[in-house]
Amino acid sequence: MKLNWWHGKIAYQIYPKSFMDSNGDGVGDLKGISSKLDYLKDLGVDIIWLSPIYVSPFVDNGYDIADYRNIAPVFGTMEDFDELLAKAKKLDLHIILDLVVNHCSSEHELFKKALKNPEGEEASYFYFVKGKDGKAPDNLRSYFGGSVWEKVDGYDDMYYLHYYAKQQPDLNWNNPVLVKKVYDMINWWLDKGISGFRVDAIMNVAKDLSFPGLPADDIDGLCAANKMTGKLTDRIPKMLNDLKANTFDKYNALTVAEAFGVSDEVLPKLYGDNGCFSTLFDFSARELYESLPGYYAFPHSTVKHYRDHNFSTQKKVGLSGFICPILENHDEPRSVSLYLKPHQQNANGAKALATAFMFLRGLPFIFQGQELGMTNTHFDSLDEFKDLLSHDEYKKCLAHGLTEEQAMEALNNHARDNARTPMLWSDAANAGFSTGTPWMKVHQDYKKLNVETQKKDKDSVLNYYKKLTALRKSEDLLNCFTYGRFDEVDLHSDEVIAYTRTDDNCKVGVFCNFEDSDLEISLGEGEKLLLQSSDAVRVSGNRMVIGPCAAAVVRLK
Ligand code: GLC
Repeated sequence: MKLNWWHGKIAYQIYPKSFMDSNGDGVGDLKGISSKLDYLKDLGVDIIWLSPIYVSPFVDNGYDIADYRNIAPVFGTMEDFDELLAKAKKLDLHIILDLVVNHCSSEHELFKKALKNPEGEEASYFYFVKGKDGKAPDNLRSYFGGSVWEKVDGYDDMYYLHYYAKQQPDLNWNNPVLVKKVYDMINWWLDKGISGFRVDAIMNVAKDLSFPGLPADDIDGLCAANKMTGKLTDRIPKMLNDLKANTFDKYNALTVAEAFGVSDEVLPKLYGDNGCFSTLFDFSARELYESLPGYYAFPHSTVKHYRDHNFSTQKKVGLSGFICPILENHDEPRSVSLYLKPHQQNANGAKALATAFMFLRGLPFIFQGQELGMTNTHFDSLDEFKDLLSHDEYKKCLAHGLTEEQAMEALNNHARDNARTPMLWSDAANAGFSTGTPWMKVHQDYKKLNVETQKKDKDSVLNYYKKLTALRKSEDLLNCFTYGRFDEVDLHSDEVIAYTRTDDNCKVGVFCNFEDSDLEISLGEGEKLLLQSSDAVRVSGNRMVIGPCAAAVVRLK
């Protein structure tokens, strides 16, 4: 593996609508982000990923892009962006943007032209396809519900393809003219000085142009589009080889792909020195949910689930690649609510979980608010959910026989909105996020759970995250945590996450106890406690006791 600038770093995801509002319109913006760069620096962050900031009708909160080379007015101007970039550079912070090129917005100039003439040049940048036997070309179901095909107005038998909302038409990656336009746009941003991209939904670009469909997997007679995507992943490396050579490689840009359902054979071709991208998020703990038909069927997760999937990825990747461990992102509920039992959903639980995550091999991404130990927000009524997916899932719950109360509970547990409520800065009105009316509900606990309060409390989750990032990057351990081997430590419990990281000079053990009883570890000669998540960790002589919901990091060599 070639050494690269992003190794040994820590990344942080910002969801711009909900991070910091500088002008009181209730929506976060670029000036708001600029005002918080010192906070991120202090947290130990090196790389910042901004979810989409481009011009958009915001049907899918910016993942529907109408103009790739301009900033959405609600976020500010291109000058604001340039200022943000310059300020970040001064602080030695890298900015990466979201690259959403499986689809664009139906408000994009090219799509508007295509719609006017489904047989013209612009239509060939998308998938305009005639129906089969008086029906849509296939029976795939969009990620947001309903058919992936939308009938074109004014034509008898013409449809266009959208794997997401109907306002998000898929781009045709088989058309070299379109692909060249995408390359130009990518290079335009890289020329501006950004450090790379998070690459959205990229596995979906492979399409079977005969549109064969698949056996129905639910009562609507449709089949989830991701099942088709899963069958075509081996086509991706060939399709995207040129992308890297014509864009990212020339700038040594960091690219982090959102890739689900990747088989072991395809994995090495997708990332690393010879792959299409620098690295991929580790979504293994999420794949169970991706394979289930809807929130109505989603189980509560467990620390065992998180551990087993992440450990399996760590072993698979070994020393040859670099993966991005996560606990959260803008598409998932809060990790404290998802993986922990109700009595563990507190600061101690958050710290123990953070410890388990922070020392895995790769480039860890922290999602905004995770560093405070945020839990899910409580939503009282359906209209408090802003995500279009939540509304589709609600209908699905009812169609599958859940009561309205049960449907609300499923949404409260699993909705993406949980990650998208405003960042909690202080105990002031609206958690200091905005002086106006926030576009989304503010978390119920903001009076206690916020940055200002946690800054003052030496035992807070926030101050613990600072210790974690500092330890991960400490001079004598940096190499071990960055490039060292990962090994599982099997302590025969479903509720313990334990592993070691080893290089030529050091060996470090990470022990996280989610049992309701003490975990005992015997320490060898010279083994030393480096970090403890709370005073529930006690060492006497060669005996270390880790109390319930506590974690310890120990230097073993
Ligand atoms: C990705 C994004 C998600 C978005 C979807 C469509 O999965 O993370 O937020 O809705 O792509 O762009």
